[in-house]
Amino acid sequence: MYRTNTCGELRIADAGKEVTLAGWVQRVRKMGGMTFLDLRDRYGITQIVFNNDTDAALCEQANHLGREFVVQVTGNVAERTAKNPNLPTGDVEIIATSLKVLNASEVPPFTIEDESDGGDDLRMKYRYLDLRRNPVRRNLELRHCMTMEVRRYLDSKGFLEIETPMLVGSTPEGARDFVVPSRMNPGCFYALPQSPQTLKQLLMVSGMDRYFQIVKCFRDEDLRADRQPEFTQIDCEMSFVEQEDVISLFEGMAKHLFKELRGVELTEPFVRMPWSEAMKYYGSDKPDLRFGMKFVELMDIMKGSGFSVFDDAAYIGGICAKGAASYTRKQLDQLTDFVKRPQIGAKGMVYARVEADGSVKSSVDKFYSQETLQKMKEAFGAEPGDLILILSGDDAMKTRKQLCELRLEMGNRLGLRDKNKFACLWVVDFPMFEWSDEEQRLMAMHHPFTHPKDEDIPMLDTDPAAVRADAYDMVVNGVEVGGGSIRIHDSELQAKMFEILGFTPEKAQEQFGFLMNAFKFGAPPHGGLAYGLDRWVSLFAGLDSIRDCIAFPKNNSGRDVMLEAPAPLDQKQLDELQLELAPAEEKKA
Ligand code: AMO
Repeated sequence: MYRTNTCGELRIADAGKEVTLAGWVQRVRKMGGMTFLDLRDRYGITQIVFNNDTDAALCEQANHLGREFVVQVTGNVAERTAKNPNLPTGDVEIIATSLKVLNASEVPPFTIEDESDGGDDLRMKYRYLDLRRNPVRRNLELRHCMTMEVRRYLDSKGFLEIETPMLVGSTPEGARDFVVPSRMNPGCFYALPQSPQTLKQLLMVSGMDRYFQIVKCFRDEDLRADRQPEFTQIDCEMSFVEQEDVISLFEGMAKHLFKELRGVELTEPFVRMPWSEAMKYYGSDKPDLRFGMKFVELMDIMKGSGFSVFDDAAYIGGICAKGAASYTRKQLDQLTDFVKRPQIGAKGMVYARVEADGSVKSSVDKFYSQETLQKMKEAFGAEPGDLILILSGDDAMKTRKQLCELRLEMGNRLGLRDKNKFACLWVVDFPMFEWSDEEQRLMAMHHPFTHPKDEDIPMLDTDPAAVRADAYDMVVNGVEVGGGSIRIHDSELQAKMFEILGFTPEKAQEQFGFLMNAFKFGAPPHGGLAYGLDRWVSLFAGLDSIRDCIAFPKNNSGRDVMLEAPAPLDQKQLDELQLELAPAEEKKA
């Protein structure tokens, strides 16, 4: 037997017992005639003591242990004289009677401590060592607990967990696919699923009624802190439901997770915000409602006073930062530089301070009377000590998005985005389509299987851009943690949708014939949703990036630096797959 106990288990009540522990050497300290070893495993750390006076040879052996050696120690549990209140095992220590090295370790490339000295790249290259660190391990434990709770909740609601294939066909809508060549079908490729969307709909046609799957999804898109090329969805679908049924079941699940995993009781129903309102007041379809700073439109007040930047603008709007009038010129310049960054793209920023006497002092005073500035102040409901920040532009949507970035930046600067506070909402009534400049056509905002709102269906022929969808996203603290919709279950409506999206009937049949045909055999009304598991875990763990709750994540270039993937294939494999690579020069062109 390698061990009688784990390194996190022993307490004062165990004093006097003989135990055997196994684990990793966290550190060895020599103090006088004693050597102290901190032995670590997943469960904790236990102090082991070697006494030079009673067993010099054993003590000498302990003195030669290096960090991360794997050892087995037998000894007797004793009450510590100097207790360590920071460790659950801190009341006891093991007086060692034997020590066996199970495996030596090279000096690790970074320290395996809560605060490691390893940089990002190094920790990713040696991720298996990084995972020995408490903060990373705790994230994986939380992830495990979350999947357990999800299964418990959905099982209690009658959902069946059903697996769907990972090798599927490529779909033209959505992000880029990761593709896999087929040796047995030369020249043909599978795609890895971006989500099991169509398959779960087919499961509804099969009568499965309630499906879920904790499932890997793959999307070849540019990466950000909350995006990985392979990520995990809690994917769900239900038959005979309307939007309200889906929302209520999955709001219930969110509340269940908050309660079980964060100890937070959310008793109020989540806010429901139409997409148009989210865009108008927050410039985003995923507003962070932990703080206010709603946008105020200033077109009526600020246009036509001879300030050409505003006079020519299609949108003028601002936010009011409470108590920030004390911002220095330098801080304001920093904010201006922030909005002018290429990723944000504003041309400039106008500011106005509300002085102690209620008067307004702005960066555009020479164009506006105090009377106009007072009207502006009133529009914000601003008070002495407040700072108003205004952006304008010739494209309303773009300017709102820039103002959204400024709002979030101010939220950060003013400490309003507390990670222990949670603001949950449903964004509803999304537009069915959005115009793509790149493709020069309408694209589905969610996906082409989303049902239009019944009352908007007549507009599919006359004004498709105005059609709203039975779609909903759940947003927590400005993060889209899930999204879904009621689906089309009628093959004719589905065909129409593809037509609006620019598919010829032949192309639609070729790509999605399997689904439209299935709809001819008694498809029930259905709808569902998918939560992003990685996003939920990182939200609960207070992480800045979803990478930290994934055991083996990819870096920002989509690489696994530990496995050194992706990598070129050798010629033999290419030959088997009948693949020929374009010469390097051609690839560049
Ligand atoms: P959607 O594309 O909105 O919907 O995805 C659902 C949820 O998955 C998470 N997510 C991601 N997480 C990490 N990295 C990514 N690259 C990534 N992309 C998405 C988000 C998102 O809300 N089939 C539909 C769902 C449905 O309609 O039922 C779908 O995939 O949290």
